Amino acid sequence: MKAANNTTTTIILDGITFSVQQTDDAEILKQVKKLDDQYIGKHYPITMKQLNTIAHSQGLLVALHQNKLAAYSLLLFEPISQQQHFASGEAMLYGTTVTEEFRRIGLGSYLAGMQETQARNKGIKKLKLTVRPENAAAVLMRLKNNFRISGFQSNYFGDESARFIMEKSIVALPEKPAKPAKHRASLVLTPDQKPSQTTLTMLAMAFSVGMKVQAYYPESEQAIRLLLG
Ligand SMILES: CC(C)(COP(=O)(O)OP(=O)(O)OC[C@H]1O[C@@H](n2cnc3c(N)ncnc32)[C@H](O)[C@@H]1OP(=O)(O)O)[C@@H](O)C(=O)NCCC(=O)NCCS
Repeated sequence: MKAANNTTTTIILDGITFSVQQTDDAEILKQVKKLDDQYIGKHYPITMKQLNTIAHSQGLLVALHQNKLAAYSLLLFEPISQQQHFASGEAMLYGTTVTEEFRRIGLGSYLAGMQETQARNKGIKKLKLTVRPENAAAVLMRLKNNFRISGFQSNYFGDESARFIMEKSIVALPEKPAKPAKHRASLVLTPDQKPSQTTLTMLAMAFSVGMKVQAYYPESEQAIRLLLG
């Protein structure tokens, strides 16, 4: 394992200054765990041991504002649990969280983008991640960052909760967002609302017969509509 590279990059988004750095600092790790517990841990908790492993493999990137944690992003080069399997040349974005006051200014995308560059520099060819279908903000952020939904599993972690599998090739030119196309099914996802059983069944069926997301667009302030075909 290599120690985190502590080079700090200063960025300004929407007039707010952040220092972005890889870290394995124990005090910051505690803040990351607290933020993770608040948003992601309630669905799939991370242990301090796992967080330490990620940080010591240069997989933890944080953004600080006035020395306080504003956001973090996790990148796995190797599996940290039995459910994960990475083919050669693959790495996994294991979660990006931004504190509420700093959302929608591009910070989540910035951190994930930096980790994408880091992965490419290490010879990684494909990034993948999983996300709950009801987490429309995260699905939209990843779609906007040129990830595509490549699969759907109704019980991915054995926790009775569905996950989209999303992936992105990071060798080729970025895949263009899907063009509107003839679609055979459409459904709406709303942040923080568990999709209905009908929606989950439809998603499972659509992906099992090889349908793909053809297009997506905001249905309202919060909800997104996916067209499958
Ligand atoms: C998902 C999350 C990381 C997004 O971070 P962020 O810094 O606000 O995202 P960005 O500003 O980079 O957003 C990029 C794009 O994603 C989409 N997006 C992000 N949040 C959205 C929301 N709440 N509603 C609709 N679209 C959203 C938009 O297309 C946005 O571009 P725009 O602002 O130009 O319209 C943040 O909402 C979060 O921390 N959520 C809780 C933790 C979590 O669920 N993490 C994901 C685990 S995989």
